[in-house]
Amino acid sequence: PLKSLVDFPVGVAVPADPYAHSLLISSERQEVVETHFNSLTAENIMKMMFLQPEPNKFAFTHADALVEYAHQQNMIMHGHALVWHTQSPKWMNDYQGSKDDFKALLKNHISTVAGHFAGKLASWDVVNEAFLDDGTASNPTKYRETIWYNNIGPEYLEMAFRLAREADSEVDLYYNDYDLVKNVSKIDRVVKMLEDFQQRNVPIDGIGFQVHIDTDTPSIKNIKEAFTKVVKRGVKVRVSELDIAVNQSEQYSELTKEVSTLQRQRYAEVVDAYMDVVPEHLRGGITLWGITDGDSWILGLENAQIGLYYLMRSFKINLHLLAWLKG
Ligand code: XIL
Repeated sequence: PLKSLVDFPVGVAVPADPYAHSLLISSERQEVVETHFNSLTAENIMKMMFLQPEPNKFAFTHADALVEYAHQQNMIMHGHALVWHTQSPKWMNDYQGSKDDFKALLKNHISTVAGHFAGKLASWDVVNEAFLDDGTASNPTKYRETIWYNNIGPEYLEMAFRLAREADSEVDLYYNDYDLVKNVSKIDRVVKMLEDFQQRNVPIDGIGFQVHIDTDTPSIKNIKEAFTKVVKRGVKVRVSELDIAVNQSEQYSELTKEVSTLQRQRYAEVVDAYMDVVPEHLRGGITLWGITDGDSWILGLENAQIGLYYLMRSFKINLHLLAWLKG
């Protein structure tokens, strides 16, 4: 099993959702999950729209079942995500109110949700994707203009971390974002926020790197440099949503053995880079985003739909990784 080969949590995002008939969709998948992984993330059901579908009406049944399942299996559970601009309920997106009203809204969600799961999770993505890829003239700080930013200001980030810590004193608190391994300006802005938090004693335990990449970019050098910037601040690095798409270019438009090998090598290189630059005590773990390529959210993205073709990461990906780890 994958999980027995390394000394950091090896995780997978599971599609359990209110519409699924079984927790992990099929017994075949369930077996892969139980054999190879020791950490779970809910791919969707712990996001705001699922946990607070109506104002102040919280719905924990499905998430509780998943957390319970994880614990039965001796797996740790990662919470994703307390605050995100996507997959928040419509009523929240449409909410009108003063700055204080929005602060109360944020506080109610975080305190209730983090309080509900207190003691049961290893970690939380406290805020997801708060930075833009680039700044604009009117927004040089390059924070994403979400309902929280627009109504509270950038201090909503700090507020979220403090509230999460108040609700759960032990859980690791992460800031999570995409493209941090390839957008230098973005990782630098995240590290700046991290330094600022550390100076002012705002609780934060690590940075989550989504790492939705392809076989060509970014370079392993770029990936290592990004991880290193966080390691230097003495907090944890999690690869929170790893997937490696292929066939983003015509070059790989067929499912050849070479393409499959390329993808396999790339997974190995990313794990290698992680182990190389992140010291053991700062390894929050690596989580794959989806059990197989066939389940992957990438298939729903525009590129996939306009005919570009993504390789199915078969169940064998686990075995590829396994073979590599065994050396
Ligand atoms: C995706 C899920 O995989 C999809 O099922 C859902 O429709 C949309 O969200 N970054 C994140 C994840 O932080 O929550 C996203 O998950 C993928 C990108």
